[in-house]
Amino acid sequence: MNFKVIEWKNGKVKLLDQTRLPQEIVYLELDDYKSMATAIQEMRIRGAPALGLAAAYGMALGAQESNTQTKEEFLRHLQVVAQALIATRPTAVNLPWAIERMERVAASAGNVPQIKAALIAEARRLEAETEASDRRLGQWGAELIPDVATVLTHCNAGTLATGGYGTALGVIRAAAEQGKRIRVFADETRPLLQGARLTAWELVQYKIPVTLITDNMAGHFLSRGEIQCVIVGADRIAANGDVANKIGTYPLAVVATENGVPFYVAAPTSTIDLSLASGKEIPIEERASEEVTHFRGVATAPEGVEVANPAFDVTPHQYISAIITEEGIVREPYGDRLKKLMFFAQGREAND
Ligand code: MRU
Repeated sequence: MNFKVIEWKNGKVKLLDQTRLPQEIVYLELDDYKSMATAIQEMRIRGAPALGLAAAYGMALGAQESNTQTKEEFLRHLQVVAQALIATRPTAVNLPWAIERMERVAASAGNVPQIKAALIAEARRLEAETEASDRRLGQWGAELIPDVATVLTHCNAGTLATGGYGTALGVIRAAAEQGKRIRVFADETRPLLQGARLTAWELVQYKIPVTLITDNMAGHFLSRGEIQCVIVGADRIAANGDVANKIGTYPLAVVATENGVPFYVAAPTSTIDLSLASGKEIPIEERASEEVTHFRGVATAPEGVEVANPAFDVTPHQYISAIITEEGIVREPYGDRLKKLMFFAQGREAND
């Protein structure tokens, strides 16, 4: 596979512009945190774990931009950078999670030049950890996939969404690499077509058979027994197991459950937010109406029509057969089990 989602190169961040896929492979070079914030807002990089990486590299960029030599002033500048990055996309918790991690590193490093170097090193470490964690998650998840299966997925939870091996697509890839005969149905994922543009593109490259469907076809195939399981990613998982993911995930979970098809969520522990009791507390990003009324500048609706454009929905935990993480698989009752899982994850972080 011949693409890199994001990397630090010669004092700049190089990132693959996902808005241009699949037609063009275009890399952007960013050298200031404000352009990183804009790139995130415009979804040139997207997907919860990849947003964490983008935020981490954004902090490293913001650090290079300051000329101050006093640590207090420098840390105040970093807070401004952090706020600008956090404000870009509110639903994926990986973004504030990665920023907090960078802030801890900054606070514990010595002088300003040392902090600047430590932030670059930490962003790179996070990138390497993502790859390793995705691969562990993929191995756990592959156990749940039958030897011969058609798997339905929504949005894009692959390499493009994590910068690593992928989460939902990581499970699918691991199962295929184990010799299981896997076929994927990919929802196109209105309005921005992450399924059609990104998931289908990735799967073609991995040579995993993929059939593209529009979102409103999923129920048809689920009701006919043509899908053995559904796997999606997540942007934030509340303490009770409720999951926020790309808009359209919730109806998919309901129809899967109605038809007795297992519905799995694959996400790293950095997506779990135990500070929120339930999915009702997860902030849902509302995006520009043009994303619904237009596609790439072409109008598809009457001018001036009222539009709603929530980017995510919340799937209540009772519809989720299992949550697959890098630390293992969790099932109902989620409350205590997620808490235990996070305890293990924090232990691993402390030992690394
Ligand atoms: O709006 P996006 O494209 O950032 O939404 C992405 C999703 O909803 C993904 O399913 C989620 O972030 C998990 S990515 C491993």
